[in-house]
Amino acid sequence: MRYKNWLTIAGLIFYTTTWANDQNIPMVVGPCITCHGIAGSSVGPAMPTIAGREKEGFIEIMEAYRDNERFSTVMGRLAKGYTDADFKIMADYFCQQAIVHYPQNVDSAKVEKGRKLHNKYCETCHEEGGCEDSESYNLFTGQRMSYLQYNLADFLNGNRDMPKRMEKYLLKMMKEQGEESIDDLVHFYGSQKSVK
Ligand code: HEC
Ligand code: HEC
Repeated sequence: MRYKNWLTIAGLIFYTTTWANDQNIPMVVGPCITCHGIAGSSVGPAMPTIAGREKEGFIEIMEAYRDNERFSTVMGRLAKGYTDADFKIMADYFCQQAIVHYPQNVDSAKVEKGRKLHNKYCETCHEEGGCEDSESYNLFTGQRMSYLQYNLADFLNGNRDMPKRMEKYLLKMMKEQGEESIDDLVHFYGSQKSVK
């Protein structure tokens, strides 16, 4: 019985290694694709897309997870297991993948409201409709609307610390435009396609 288990494990290791080599996937990226998908585009409602961004920003995010400077449920623990050189390999791999945009049910009236809200309250820091983001390296483009909703909820219910200046803008928006403004923004970001 033991012997048989060992064979199965050996077989699995062999299978994963050859498969990874076939696809030219660096070994350190293996664990990442089990959650983020082979090309880094979201594979589930609560999973972010990590494909197609700027390498520098990708690496900063990984460093922030490792150093407990960015809120996370799983990434903080994971990132501690890797070196700076590994982060670079991960960035090289995922940043060259094109973002896959899943069809999302966007309401065009909400998109238009969201666009105006974004320009007024968010664009200062999240440039180009959240497509390119020089200050915080956050990318809203290509994210599933469900992920963006969870993401914003984490800030609003206090799970994740909000940068003070962002808090000011977000609370001001909700006060002036009502709580449904959050939903309008989610529809706007969900409709955004270009990365740069
Ligand atoms: C167990 C599933 C899982 C694995 C494995 C995993 N991730 Fe993640 N990743 C997540 C989740 C969930 C988030 C959202 C933050 C959180 O809650 O941890 C995330 C967030 C990220 C983000 C930030 C996305 C954003 O826009 O905020 C990056 C970059 C990232 N992961 C890269 C990686 C890399 C590189 C690896 C391989 C070392 C990896 N992830 C492995 C689940 C995973
Ligand atoms: C003054 C600058 C500033 C303004 C204005 C601002 N933000 Fe942010 N935002 C940031 C920074 C910095 C972060 C990164 C925080 C972190 O990683 O903990 C961030 C992070 C986020 C994230 C998380 C992204 C991710 O990948 O995890 C979302 C969503 C977000 N902002 C939405 C908004 C919305 C919506 C508005 C407008 C109502 C807004 N922000 C206005 C600076 C700002």
